Amino acid sequence: MVIKSVAIIGTQWGDEGKGKIVDFITKKYNITHVVRYSGGNNAGHTIIVGDKKIVCHLLPSGIINPGTICIIGNGVVIDPEVLIKEIQKIEMLNIKITSDKLKISENAHIIMPYHKQIELKSEESKGRNKIGTTGRGIGPTYADKINRIGIRIGDLINKEIFSNKLKKNLEFYNKLLISIYNGDPINYEKVLEEYINYAEIIRPFVENVNHYFFKLLNSNSDYIIIFEGAQGTLLDIDYGTYPYVTSSNSTLGGIFTGSGFGNIQFNKIIGIAKAYSTRVGNGPFPTELKDDIGKYLQNKGKEFGSTTGRPRRCGWLDIPILKYSVNINNINSIVLTKLDVLSGIKKLKICTKYELDGKEFDYFINNQTFLDNCRPVLEEIGGWEEDITNIKEFEKLPDNCKKYIRKIEEMTKVPVDIISTGPDRNQTIIRNEIL
Ligand code: GDP
Ligand code: IMO
Ligand code: MG
Repeated sequence: MVIKSVAIIGTQWGDEGKGKIVDFITKKYNITHVVRYSGGNNAGHTIIVGDKKIVCHLLPSGIINPGTICIIGNGVVIDPEVLIKEIQKIEMLNIKITSDKLKISENAHIIMPYHKQIELKSEESKGRNKIGTTGRGIGPTYADKINRIGIRIGDLINKEIFSNKLKKNLEFYNKLLISIYNGDPINYEKVLEEYINYAEIIRPFVENVNHYFFKLLNSNSDYIIIFEGAQGTLLDIDYGTYPYVTSSNSTLGGIFTGSGFGNIQFNKIIGIAKAYSTRVGNGPFPTELKDDIGKYLQNKGKEFGSTTGRPRRCGWLDIPILKYSVNINNINSIVLTKLDVLSGIKKLKICTKYELDGKEFDYFINNQTFLDNCRPVLEEIGGWEEDITNIKEFEKLPDNCKKYIRKIEEMTKVPVDIISTGPDRNQTIIRNEIL
């Protein structure tokens, strides 16, 4: 029996093209399982195959590949309404989502209406200093998990447990909503009825994921498992640009606590890196471009959020950030995406280090004061005019484009194994086989 594991991790602030690459690798290497282990429907992972566009928020991006089993691990927070709608959307593409195809951990926490309300009010109260969250209730749901008052999928499908926990939590949250936030209370009966209906739809997919993996390990078949990260290293609650981060561990560590699978020796830890930088929401962004080039990247790269539709801030590639992500996640393979978007920019720049008070730093410093005040040191490298969206071999890329890729390899000391030259599954160059 052979078990292979591949981790897919965002190296920047999310939206690096993880969905496209998970789908591509799933199809190319006959991946048997794709596991989401963190985040929730703050994620938006886009897959494009021909004229079909699918955005996965909660379902793993292996979902459209026949035969691939998709697992939502205990580290994910689930909005049942969103999950059900997503399943229905995929089924409209003639892909049957059975309990063999999709398994959901009974220990994943669920997002409740009060989580979304509290998040909205809390963001409003922060004014200019708001995080700029996706408004999906992610932070308050993880807060309840840590506070040990969260409600899990396993609770949802037991009416007695669910109704008791809901009643208790609403007693607290309604007080908070009324007295602190001047808001309206949430109706217990209404939420109960709504969620009991969700429970019946979700019930068939609920699984003891740990035991499922245990059985898999003790079976005689071969498996290749992808652990699909959501968000990116710089949005990680511990390693990201705190407090402008999400509320979970989007880095490699999240796999160990959030997937339900313990026996992991990664064959590849793949860092997905966009050829430039983007960020949605507030927070430090040393290489941000507030000029015409920033606008060019935003328009050409269609940099509008897959979840909220908000414009993404754009800037030059930041090498210290890539090196940081490589270190934090032990990345041994880079997939470079959206390289096609850089075509037509005469002079490209990449940030190789930062400068503060006359001192230079060639590594990322995760400190708000530093990030608010540092200046990126930019190195200019030649651009290319050619459209690269139909190129299928590395050698056929323009010389400066190859130089750009080699520069990234030289500075991160990690090979760029796959290059993405467009949103479609087919617009992908494999330089080195990853498995
Ligand atoms: P994810 O959250 O990391 O899965 O990324 P998103 O799906 O939120 O955002 C990436 C966007 O870029 C999507 O609209 C993709 O269809 C698109 N995309 C992915 N790879 C490429 C690429 O190589 N070139 C171009 N032009 N677009 C890409
Ligand atoms: P994918 O998986 C980009 C950002 C939000 C906000 C911060 C906190 O598609 O790469 P949250 O709602 O999580 O509490 O918001 O994190 N954010 C993302 N940005 N891509 C994502 O996911 C994101 N998920 C959260 O914009 O700045
Ligand atoms: Mg996204």
